[in-house]
This record gives sequence, structure tokens and C-alpha cells, in this order.
Amino acid sequence: MIVQQFVLTAFQQNTRLLACEKTRKAVCIDPGEQSDELESYIKRSELSLQAIALTHGHLDHVGGTSALHKAFPDAEILIHRDDEEMYYRLPAQPLMLGIDPEQMRALGMNYDEAPPVSRNWEHGEVYEVGEMRFTVRHCPGHTRGHVVLIEEKERKVFVGDCLFLGSIGRTDLPGGNYDQLIESINTQILGLDDDFVVYSGHGPETTVGRERAANPFLTGLYQIGKGRFL
Ligand SMILES: [Fe+2]
Repeated sequence: MIVQQFVLTAFQQNTRLLACEKTRKAVCIDPGEQSDELESYIKRSELSLQAIALTHGHLDHVGGTSALHKAFPDAEILIHRDDEEMYYRLPAQPLMLGIDPEQMRALGMNYDEAPPVSRNWEHGEVYEVGEMRFTVRHCPGHTRGHVVLIEEKERKVFVGDCLFLGSIGRTDLPGGNYDQLIESINTQILGLDDDFVVYSGHGPETTVGRERAANPFLTGLYQIGKGRFL
């Protein structure tokens, strides 16, 4: 399995292109913005882009969907139904998130209408791309419709903005819920074995074991809103 990472947008978001070495079929997880580098990588590597797989609907994860879909119109677009409304409201998101649209434009974040979603993720489904098999799990808390994708055989989990090295996703944005996020991480991610590599939407890779042992939000060392700072 090929994992190629592109760090895009002013938010330093990790866009990832995953490909099956045998069949050359590929999936792009969370195209943050238009990227010549991403498009030329797919063409140069002679990959067939099967899907644009969205973990959630935030602008820094879906902002490149329109451009990527224009370049590869056969690719289907997948997102959970609970984040679909946010996805379609992409041009209005800067305002919804409290960011000045003028500032966003200055950063090159000018959004087209988002192209139609092909299908919604279902919790528990297995999505196949060549020989890669991704189990989809609904992990609400950062957004209502956030999903994570687990590749069991490759021991990899793509967690979007649920979990980061030593931290967790924001829960102060619309649809965010701290208790729900902790519950999602505990039930949907920490059940995996320690050796699973965690690919987050921002920052470096980590492992399930490392986060289970040392992430202060998961060990109980730090609990937002619980009045405990130990
Ligand atoms: Fe996010």
C-alpha cells in the first residue's frame, strides 16, 4: 500500500493519497485544497483515482474536492450524511467558523460550490479500493458526521481530526461535543491494537499504543470542563 502525504492549506492539513500497488487503484483522503502536486502525482504514478474519501466536512479537509473531481471526474465522493450539509455550505464555512472571508481570500481560500456527493458512508461498511479494505466507523464529536477509516491488514487508521499526537480534535466548533468525542475515541479507535499507526489530519503520525498510554486527554490527566488539571 502506497501512502503519499501532501501538507496543504494555511492549516497545514494532511491530504493523503493511498494506492494499491497491485491494481494501481487509489483513494484520496481529505483533499484540503487544489494541488498541482497531488494531481500530477496521480497522473505520473499511473494511478486510477476511485474515490475522494472525506473524514468530515470542514473546509480544510474538503476544500480541494471540486478541483480534484474536475481533474478526475470518475472518482466518487463519499462523506457521512451528518456532515453533508456542512460540505455543501463550503463557500459559507469561513463565516460559520468565525473566520473573516477577506482574510480567507487573502490566503487563497476561494471556494467553488462543492460537487455532488456520490454516496454516504455507513458505519461498519467495508470500502474496497483494489486490495485495500477500509472499515468505516462513525466517530462524532469533532463534527457530527466524522468517520475514521481502518485498514486492518496494513495496521493503519486514518482518523481525520478526531485524534492527534498528544491531543484531540477541537470541540468548540458547530457540531462539536467533547464528551461525545472522548466516547468515540474510546469505543471506535482505542479498541484497536497498540501497533496500529494513526494518521491524523494535522501533524505527525502516532500509534494507538502511544496515545492510549500518553495522550493526556485519554489518560484522564486533563479533562476539559471537569475542573481537573492534575
Ligand atoms: Fe476539522
